[in-house]
Amino acid sequence: MNTIKKELTETLKTCLNADPEEIAGLLEVPPDPQMGDYALPCFAFAKQMKKAPAGIATELAGCISPPSGITKMRAAGPYLNFHVNRPELFSEILCGIHEKGSAWHRTEKGKGETVVIDYSSPNIAKHLGVHHLRSAIIGRSIYRIFEAAGYRCIGINHLGDWGTSFGKLIAAFQRYGGLSAEKASVSDMQNYYVRFSNEAMKKPELEDLARDAFRKLENGDPDATALWKQFKKVSMAEFERIYGILGIEFDEYMPESFYLVMAESLLKRLKKAGIATESEEAVIATLEDENLPPLMLKKKDGATLYATRDLCAAEYRWTNYRFRHCLYVVGGEQKLHFLQLTAVLKKMGYKWADRIEHIDFGLLKFIDSETGRANKGSTRTGDTILLEDVLKNGIEKARRKIEENAEKLSEQTNAEELAAQIGTGAVIFSDLAVKRTKDVIFDWDRMLDFQGDTGPYVQYAHARLSSILRKAQMPVSTDADCSILQMPEEWRLVRMLEIFPLRINQASEKREPSIIANYLLELCKLFSTYYSLGMREPDKRVLCEDKNTLAARLLLVNGIKTVIASGLQLLGMDAPQRM
Ligand code: ARG
Repeated sequence: MNTIKKELTETLKTCLNADPEEIAGLLEVPPDPQMGDYALPCFAFAKQMKKAPAGIATELAGCISPPSGITKMRAAGPYLNFHVNRPELFSEILCGIHEKGSAWHRTEKGKGETVVIDYSSPNIAKHLGVHHLRSAIIGRSIYRIFEAAGYRCIGINHLGDWGTSFGKLIAAFQRYGGLSAEKASVSDMQNYYVRFSNEAMKKPELEDLARDAFRKLENGDPDATALWKQFKKVSMAEFERIYGILGIEFDEYMPESFYLVMAESLLKRLKKAGIATESEEAVIATLEDENLPPLMLKKKDGATLYATRDLCAAEYRWTNYRFRHCLYVVGGEQKLHFLQLTAVLKKMGYKWADRIEHIDFGLLKFIDSETGRANKGSTRTGDTILLEDVLKNGIEKARRKIEENAEKLSEQTNAEELAAQIGTGAVIFSDLAVKRTKDVIFDWDRMLDFQGDTGPYVQYAHARLSSILRKAQMPVSTDADCSILQMPEEWRLVRMLEIFPLRINQASEKREPSIIANYLLELCKLFSTYYSLGMREPDKRVLCEDKNTLAARLLLVNGIKTVIASGLQLLGMDAPQRM
C-alpha cells in the first residue's frame, strides 16, 4: 500500500473504528478524476453506526483532518472523496518501482500461509494432451500469482504412473515382442496399448493376461517393474522436453505410485469409521447423504484406484504442508471426482477438506484452416493434435513473421530466441487471456497479431519501452521532479500502475490469471495512446528536449516497463528487450 493511502486509512480509522486494512480494501477510484482520486463508500459502516451512508460521509468530512498527501476532501452522497497531492503519488509509485524493481508489486496477503498447486499431472505412456497444456500454463501462472501475493507455494506434478492400464501395456510388450522397451517411444506405447485393447475385445482372455501382468507389477516382479520403469523414463523425457519449451517447473514430482504404501492404512481407517464398506472384496465409500454416486476405493482384485491414491495424496499434503489452499488445476470433466474426494475427506472429519479446490478450465479448440470452424483438438484423421506440434507451429509462425520484418530488426536480436519467446508467448497469452472456465480457441493469425489483444502485443510494448530507455541519453533516476508530469495520460498511467498489486490480490482470490492478462492489455493500451500523442506533438514526446521533463518521463516509462515485465512473468511469458 502506498504511503498516502496508508496515512489516509490510519486517519480514517480513528473515526470509523475499523481495521485500516479493511478500510484500504474499501477505497475505490472514482470513475471521473474530477470527483477525486480515492473514494470511500460508506455503506459498509451504516449498520454498525446506525446511520445512513450519506450522513456518515458528511460526519467523517467534519471529523477528520486529512494527512499531508491529501489536498482536498469532500462528501458526495454516500461517498467521501479525496484528492491527492499528485506529484507525491507519482513520486511514491514511480520511485518505489525504480527502487524495488521486480519486487515492487509483491503483497503480504498470504504471509505465513502455504498453497499447494497440483498442475499438468499427465499420465505416463501417453502423449501430453492439450488439456495438460492448459493445466500447466494456468497452474504455473496461479502459482506465480499466489507467490506474488505473499504465499509460500508448492507446485506438484501428480504424475499418473499407476493403474491397471499398465498391466495391459506390460502384457502387450511381452506379447508382441519385436520392439524392446528401451527403443519404444511414447507413440509406440500408445500404439501397443491400442493394439492390445482391440485384440482383447475379440479375445477376452487377454484381459486375464493384463491382470496378471499388473499383479506382477504390484508384487515387484523384476521384469514387469523394469518395463514400467522404462515407460516412465521415456515419458518423463518427453514431458520435460515440452515443459522446457514453455519453461514450466515443479517443486516436486509426486507420482501416484508413491502413495501405494499408504493405501492399506487408509482403507482400514475408512472401514473402521464406517465410511467405506467391503462388498465382494471390493471397497466402496457410499456418498448417498452427499447426493453423490458411490466411490470405489479398491477393486475386487485388490488394486487401488485413482481416487484412493488421491485421498492418500491429500492426507500426505496436509501432513507435510498444512496448506491454506490445496488447488487441483484439472479439466472440468473431473468435477465429480473432486466432489467425491472432498466428500470422503469431510466424512473423515478433516476440517481442512474445504480447503481442497478443483480449479477447472474449459477446452482448447483449434480453428481448422480449411473450414474455418473450431474443433476439439483432433485432426480430421482423428489423431489428437500433439502439444509439441502446437508449440513448434507457434514458434515457426513467429519466426516467419520475424523474417518478414527482418530489415527492422537490430543486429543484437537473436531471431531464434525471439521466435521462441513470441511463439510460446502467443500460446500462453491466448490461453490465459480468457476466463479459465471458458473454452479457448486457437487461431494462429489472431494470436500472433502484434496489434491485437495478444501476447506479442504486450511483449512488443515492453520492447518499445526498453528501446526508449536505451535511446535516452540519461539514466533513470529517482531525483526526477514528478510535478512536471501534468498530462492527463500520465496521471492515468500512474493510477494504472498503482492498482497492479490490487489486481494480483484479486487474481489470487479468484484463481484467475485472466485478471493479470487483461490488466496488461489495459496498461499497454494506455501507454500506446500516450506514446502516439508524442508522435504528433514533440513536446509530448518521452524523449523530449527539456531535460527535467525527460527525466520525469523516463521514470514513468521505467515504471510501466517494469510492471509489464512483472505481469508477463506472472503469466509465464518472456519480456523481450528488442523486437
Ligand atoms: N493424471 C490425471 C489426468 O491426466 C490428472 C491428475 C490431476 N491431479 C490429481 N491429483 N488428481 O487426468
